[in-house]
Amino acid sequence: MKKRYILLSLAVLLAGCQPKPLPQEQLTRHDAEINAIIAQLSLEEKVEMLHSKTNMSSEGVPRLNIQDIKYCDGPFGIREEGVPNGFMSAGWTTDSATYFPTGSALAATWSEDLAYQYGIGMGTEARRRGKDIILGPAVNIQRLPVGGRTYEYLSEDPVLAAMLGTSYVKGVQDAGTAACIKHFALNNQEMNRGSVNVVCDERTMREIYLKPFEVMVRKGGAMAVMPAYNKVNGDYCSENEHLLNEILRGEWGFKGMTVSDWGGTHSTMGAALHGLDVQMTGDTYLGPALIDSVKAGKVPESVVDDKVREILRVRFAVEAIPEDKCNLETASTPESRATAYEVARRSVVLLKNEGNILPIKKEVKKIAVIGRNATALTQSGGMGAGVKAPYEITPLQGLLNRAPEGVEINYAPAYKDYLGMFARWRGPQFLEEHPEIAAEINAPADPAMLAEAVALAADADLVLYFIGTNKYIETEGSDRTDIDLPLCQNIIAEALTDVNPNVIGVVISGGPCDLSTVEPILPGLVQGWWNGLEGGNALADILFGNIAPSGKLPFTFPVKLADSPAYALDNYPQKAEVEGDLFGNLYRQDVKGQKRAPMGPAHYASTAYYSEGPLVGYRWFDTKSVPVLYAFGHGLSYVPFSYADMKANKASYGADDVIKVKFRLGNQGSMPAEEVAQLYVHRVDGQVSWPVKELKAFRRVALAAGETKTVTLEIPVSELRYWDEAANDWALEHGTIELLLGSASDDIRQTVTVKI
Ligand code: BGC
Repeated sequence: MKKRYILLSLAVLLAGCQPKPLPQEQLTRHDAEINAIIAQLSLEEKVEMLHSKTNMSSEGVPRLNIQDIKYCDGPFGIREEGVPNGFMSAGWTTDSATYFPTGSALAATWSEDLAYQYGIGMGTEARRRGKDIILGPAVNIQRLPVGGRTYEYLSEDPVLAAMLGTSYVKGVQDAGTAACIKHFALNNQEMNRGSVNVVCDERTMREIYLKPFEVMVRKGGAMAVMPAYNKVNGDYCSENEHLLNEILRGEWGFKGMTVSDWGGTHSTMGAALHGLDVQMTGDTYLGPALIDSVKAGKVPESVVDDKVREILRVRFAVEAIPEDKCNLETASTPESRATAYEVARRSVVLLKNEGNILPIKKEVKKIAVIGRNATALTQSGGMGAGVKAPYEITPLQGLLNRAPEGVEINYAPAYKDYLGMFARWRGPQFLEEHPEIAAEINAPADPAMLAEAVALAADADLVLYFIGTNKYIETEGSDRTDIDLPLCQNIIAEALTDVNPNVIGVVISGGPCDLSTVEPILPGLVQGWWNGLEGGNALADILFGNIAPSGKLPFTFPVKLADSPAYALDNYPQKAEVEGDLFGNLYRQDVKGQKRAPMGPAHYASTAYYSEGPLVGYRWFDTKSVPVLYAFGHGLSYVPFSYADMKANKASYGADDVIKVKFRLGNQGSMPAEEVAQLYVHRVDGQVSWPVKELKAFRRVALAAGETKTVTLEIPVSELRYWDEAANDWALEHGTIELLLGSASDDIRQTVTVKI
């Protein structure tokens, strides 16, 4: 009896010690059942699953009652329903959804918790819309300040992007939906995105550009991956053996499905043999031509079976929602809207606060709100995914909602809407052919509008001047041609400051703007992002001082565009002609059953040389000692924070250790506030070439007025490894490193030196 009891306890103990299956392994739970299904399918049935059925679905197995897979954009709200064969609105009334702050705003929170809640919100609303896979998060590294999709992406730093992306994926998948992480990989520019060949060394790829994807696959358990439009080192991402088969499946153990970007499949043999499961959209390659290739013995049927297996793993992991159980009312839930607010309030970055001009003082009774961006909607516009939100609180509406009694708010737009939609996307030739649009972009300030704004400013105690871009200027399918403030915003700033010294600039944009003209003349500057349907309320709460700002920049604001690495090294823009966007040219006619549009000259392909190597963003500016306007990680508060007593738990670490850094963080002000503590490493005696510093850990900490907390940050030593090209593996360099703790990459407060 006693012996049996001991054996039983031992078994229980051992079972407890069994490592939990890795996130990717969990996808294989139903493989036996799935293999039995595959054995029953005809080649035709299998291939039917490998391409689009409609613009946003792919076929299941109707005969066996296996449901179609339904996709949706992603990434900052569930996109409105499109017609079956395209993106035109289907005209539904039940397809509105929460408009969450876009990627750069989410990243500015530096909060894994919020990224998780954001994912839960997205996943839940996708379920309510009957969708199985969210095409997101989008996590490409922001290599170029002009990048058209900077607003969707998270950061120029791989650790920040990886940690937030992973929490987002977990949230989406815990809510029962699959995340399709995108765009894999090195899709860091929109210019010629459909054909550009990115030439990048392996070390840079592994340490910078692939890092977020690796963590989202390995730790986040992402169930789907979207190969990008571009080529990497010569091969399209949708048929890139190295990326899809060797790295993603081989090294990272990915067990889910790959879905090409829309119009991003280029051949039957390439896609079939080198890692693509589903062609979106159309059936040109993974349709009848694939059946022929199998029959001709060019593609083994087992390759088709592998693809079907990967798709069915996702189908088994995500419950299909019956049509009568979804789309009954708006997808937007009160919980998601609350999350959108929480993200927005923690994303707003206080860039500059001379003389503590913010928060708005009690004495301020008359506020002039100037600038069309105070009222412009950001939920959709331009090219690419947007959201049909049930409402959107604009900055002006937020200020009106939150203004204390007795405060008068007056508004003047000062500059017009930017109507040159897609003009930049269509390129310089288009502008030549459409002088009216070119004239509009370059028009001088409208005298009547300027006069109205100046008069309001002169008569106000305080001016809130809304500047920045909009969804037509920053848009998918094209990069900005510069990062200048558009629409005469600099000239208007000068006119406003001539009549009122108290002008605060609020930048509404997804990416960085050149603020070098307004920065010296405006005492206050705030980065307000495209901040979701509650953005206006969150912004107003910060401006009025109901809460302290706590956002931190997820990318650098350079002094001028020419300082940034790809420009400084003359690697961007590439000198090839722009022939319009692949997606824009194709999608309307590339859905099954329709004719394929002509590709245009396939030879406009350009090459993007990533010769700056890993020196992207602050890694470049720091290492090359190039001054910046606002550094990575920068963001002020209304209170001062103290950093003290920084200690590492050991003096010397081995390869399997975790560095634990403890310190005291204090709020020295008189209101509650949150600080994002950031831990960087600097290699003191590195023989391998390293950037001056690299972010390795961070934590958002909430502190009551006057409160001090002990905070611990951890860096697994394995995260200090570099990619050794000769060994084709990760390697650890031994030596001395300095741990740099601070409030921003250029505001290091404490350091400790340790040995590895
Ligand atoms: C974009 C993807 C998007 C897809 C479907 C493509 O043009 O690059 O991010 O998910 O369209 O809308």
